Amino acid sequence: MKVAVSGKGGVGKTTIAAFLIKVLADRGRQVLAIDADPSPHLAMALGFQQAERIRPIVEMRDLIQERSERCGSFYRLNPKVSDLPGRFMVQKGNIKLMVLGAIQQGGAGCACADNAVLRALLNTLLLSPNEDIVLDMEAGVEHLGRGTIASVDHLLIVIQPYRGSLETAAKIQTLGRDLKIDHLEIVANQVQGPKDLDYIEGYLGERPIGVFFASDEVREAERSGMPVYDSSPGLRSSAQDLLSLLEQTK
Ligand SMILES: Nc1ncnc2c1ncn2[C@@H]1O[C@H](COP(=O)(O)OP(=O)(O)OP(=O)(O)O)[C@@H](O)[C@H]1O
Ligand SMILES: [Mg+2]
Repeated sequence: MKVAVSGKGGVGKTTIAAFLIKVLADRGRQVLAIDADPSPHLAMALGFQQAERIRPIVEMRDLIQERSERCGSFYRLNPKVSDLPGRFMVQKGNIKLMVLGAIQQGGAGCACADNAVLRALLNTLLLSPNEDIVLDMEAGVEHLGRGTIASVDHLLIVIQPYRGSLETAAKIQTLGRDLKIDHLEIVANQVQGPKDLDYIEGYLGERPIGVFFASDEVREAERSGMPVYDSSPGLRSSAQDLLSLLEQTK
């Protein structure tokens, strides 16, 4: 299954992506984790060392071009995850991590080329039955218009129980529907109690498919630079529940 994690800045996309990736890996699945944020943090959340050494996916453009010239359309070949060159990823156990772009300097550069490569990858990569892709996306909505994620099975929209994140979520829902993404799922993070869930339901007209409570352990782990997934059995069990629901609605 291909899952993208979206939402307003700071709502917990990377944290939730890390929990999902880790739970999938613990279930014995092969996971391709893609950090599509121009300021990537997924490596740290997952406890990968020396992630700055990973060559960004955008550099694969030349490779794709070269292969297309040599052996016809690379895209038509429906590459497998195992065909992706190792230099574009780091691997730990059954998690492979790729990063989309080089870290961009304030306001510099356009990420269109990066997104074109990612779109091609998501569209064409053929997953074997024991493989999943989890994509930690850039914050906000602007990049969604590029259609990069049109081929994912689930677009998770992470929210927190405050108005700003819900407004962004409503925009993502609209864009996701335009892209004809089958499953747009609201996932609530930093929830403190039932009132928060009532507020979310009142605003969006639906209850979140996944609920992650505010966790002191996660805060502490983040502050001390530890991988968050080891920190909180509670959030791990939220991720397990969420994945079970996603698998049912594939
Ligand atoms: N359930 C939670 N309980 C406590 N702290 C959390 C929780 N979820 C996320 N955090 C903390 O909130 C901060 C933001 O989370 P995270 O980096 O996952 O958000 P993000 O949406 O990926 O942000 P960005 O838009 O910058 O990429 C982090 O310090 C993280 O440790
Ligand atoms: Mg993030």
